[in-house]
Amino acid sequence: MNTKVWKVDKYVDNLESNPHIVDAAHFLKENEVVAMPTETVYGLAGNAENDEAVAKIFAAKGRPADNPLIIHIAEQEQLNRFVAEVPEKAAILMDKFWPGPLTIIFKMKEGVLSEKASAGLGTVGVRMPDHPVALALLKVSGLPIAAPSANSSGKPSPTTAGHVLDDLEGKIAGVVDGGPTGVGVESTVIDCTETVPVILRPGGVTKEQLEAVVGEVHIDPALTNEAAKPKAPGMKYRHYAPNAPLYLVSGTRGFLQGLAAEKRAEGLRVGVLTTEEHADEYEADVVLTCGRRAELETVAAALYDVLRRFNEQQVDVIFSEMFPYEGVGYAIMNRLEKAAGNKVIKE
Ligand code: TXA
Ligand code: MG
Repeated sequence: MNTKVWKVDKYVDNLESNPHIVDAAHFLKENEVVAMPTETVYGLAGNAENDEAVAKIFAAKGRPADNPLIIHIAEQEQLNRFVAEVPEKAAILMDKFWPGPLTIIFKMKEGVLSEKASAGLGTVGVRMPDHPVALALLKVSGLPIAAPSANSSGKPSPTTAGHVLDDLEGKIAGVVDGGPTGVGVESTVIDCTETVPVILRPGGVTKEQLEAVVGEVHIDPALTNEAAKPKAPGMKYRHYAPNAPLYLVSGTRGFLQGLAAEKRAEGLRVGVLTTEEHADEYEADVVLTCGRRAELETVAAALYDVLRRFNEQQVDVIFSEMFPYEGVGYAIMNRLEKAAGNKVIKE
């Protein structure tokens, strides 16, 4: 399959009449799948009401069938078609955080969306992306759009159209290239079907921000206990893993440098993941900087690109600094732990 690339400047006016958006929306209406930028990561979009389109999403990614898809909408009214009930706290969260990086899990009306999209859970995750290109595409297509991250299953999520093409060229109808995404980690997934909302996946909206508007919020215990079964099926998979083994290092920079030196002495090609503040302090074969530690948002924005770049550099082992488990740092550490398969070396 020839994968089209539609370049679209997200800052121009009247995106809904942009010929590239209109063309991409036409493919969606024909039940083809196309990648689109969102404010978090690129998504692989398809008509959520059509089995054939949803099957194409799973096939292109090589995604396990038990992992449900997030439904993307451009207007709150679209919810009524496939959501059974909107609890009060969910309504407050939508008003405060949509459009934005928050996916809310609702009880689902049966028989509207493709069964494959919900993986038989009886619930549905919905979000309104805060990206002009995604919103225009959703509006022009007029469809509820199922969109997982547009990577091959297991790889880091794509934050540029180039990442999407690296994984899916030839497997999808096209990609709308709206430039690099902003947030860099995926949306926070929050289950609002229970009295106290539960975070199933940490992401772009922080626990602190959520609690400021709806009070107490729980975190799915499976996020911190490997033995428990996560309520978001996708959280049980190893993800984001670079080709080389990745170790998270808990300790001083001197300790991390010592580990790097030891492996280099064994003849291995060593990578170090750090931030701009500390890049000069390391001696290794490949030192990649991931934003600035003082502004964790910049670390989130750069994270997946850095993980992909270690593959290009063909290192044998990677040592990474760790980040505080607060604000967006919580999502960064969740992704790094998955990428590392939870391998942590303590000083
Ligand atoms: O930022 C994002 O959310 C991106 C962009 C493209 O919107 N999308 C994304 O989708 O990250 P995906 O499919 O890569 O991750 C969706 C996560 C998975 O862990 C999945 O198991 C969980 O959300 N999920 C989806 N529907 C669910 C449901 N009904 N109940 C529990 N978890 C659900
Ligand atoms: Mg994903």
